[in-house]
Amino acid sequence: MIESSDFRDAKMPLNHGLGQIPVLGFGTLILDPAVTITATRDALEAGFRHFDCAERYRNEREVGEALQVGLAAEGIAREDIFVNTKLWNTNHRPERVEPAFEASLDRLRLNYLDLYLIHTPFAFQPGDEQDPRDQNGNVLYDRGVTLLDTWKALESLVDHGRCRAIGLSDITLEGLLPLYESARIKPAVIQVEAHPYLPQTELLEFCKKKDIVFLAGAPLGHGIRPGPLEDAVILAIAARVKKTPAQVLLAWAAQRGTALLVTTRTAARMKENFNISALPEDAFEEINGIQTRHRFNEVVKTGSPGFIPQGR
Ligand SMILES: NC(=O)c1ccc[n+]([C@@H]2O[C@H](COP(=O)([O-])OP(=O)(O)OC[C@H]3O[C@@H](n4cnc5c(N)ncnc54)[C@H](OP(=O)(O)O)[C@@H]3O)[C@@H](O)[C@H]2O)c1
Repeated sequence: MIESSDFRDAKMPLNHGLGQIPVLGFGTLILDPAVTITATRDALEAGFRHFDCAERYRNEREVGEALQVGLAAEGIAREDIFVNTKLWNTNHRPERVEPAFEASLDRLRLNYLDLYLIHTPFAFQPGDEQDPRDQNGNVLYDRGVTLLDTWKALESLVDHGRCRAIGLSDITLEGLLPLYESARIKPAVIQVEAHPYLPQTELLEFCKKKDIVFLAGAPLGHGIRPGPLEDAVILAIAARVKKTPAQVLLAWAAQRGTALLVTTRTAARMKENFNISALPEDAFEEINGIQTRHRFNEVVKTGSPGFIPQGR
């Protein structure tokens, strides 16, 4: 549980004594390569020390370049940032895991990762095509590998000191339970869509019980309007506590005991999104009482296509 009311430097412990993860994370799901570089630099400058990446985002090279230049410019040590990236669906076969991991590390210009996640529990036909489909447009799944097979290959990366912690993304509680039971190294982090319209309370409670960090992706509901950013309860609280709607949503996420990932392409919003402090208890409870339910991203059901926002 986070004690401080100021979340800027807040961290949560990872299980197995694997260190800590900064609560406020910057997500690098940005389509434009040049913007990826400026946004990652701006995120470092604003104070973000946690960066979420993925081979599927096809911009690890740009993130790596920005981090290398940014760390040197700001005098920040590698150990002072937390970097995670994700294994894509086409690399679930155990023999493909280490090469995919090393390729990500190389693009990110790093020699270890703080966290490596299985991007989705769905295995796609192995190969270089990230979105393999048949003639009718149906996704080609790979039935020859189980999630546990892939997980064991990630465990081996930890055994060899290549990454500190491992976890899963876009998973449901039903999908997590059997993997959790069978895993030799238990997942340290679960990354899923979460915001007041999709609080995933049952999954969050399970994670808290098992010392798994719940990492909330899309805490602003992907910025989609209408959505949480324009919710009447959020707007009223923002006006009352003199914060922006985004700051209210991010504070709520941190206050309920999740780490979070937020993305913006603009420097001003970067500062706004990092300047997060706790809400008064009544405001926090009011948000817990929001009844609207909406999942913006169906990736948990199919593994496809991974959430790549339009026009970003
Ligand atoms: N595992 C997965 O499958 C998965 C899926 C989705 C996301 N993620 C992770 O979660 C991260 C965040 O997800 P996301 O970017 O989709 O959703 P998000 O952070 O909830 O929303 C980002 C959107 O909100 C806007 N925004 C940002 N700050 C704002 C502010 N202060 N006021 C108003 N609007 C603001 C951004 O537009 P501007 O850029 O114009 O500011 C952008 O369009 C991703 O980068 C990724 O790392 C993971």
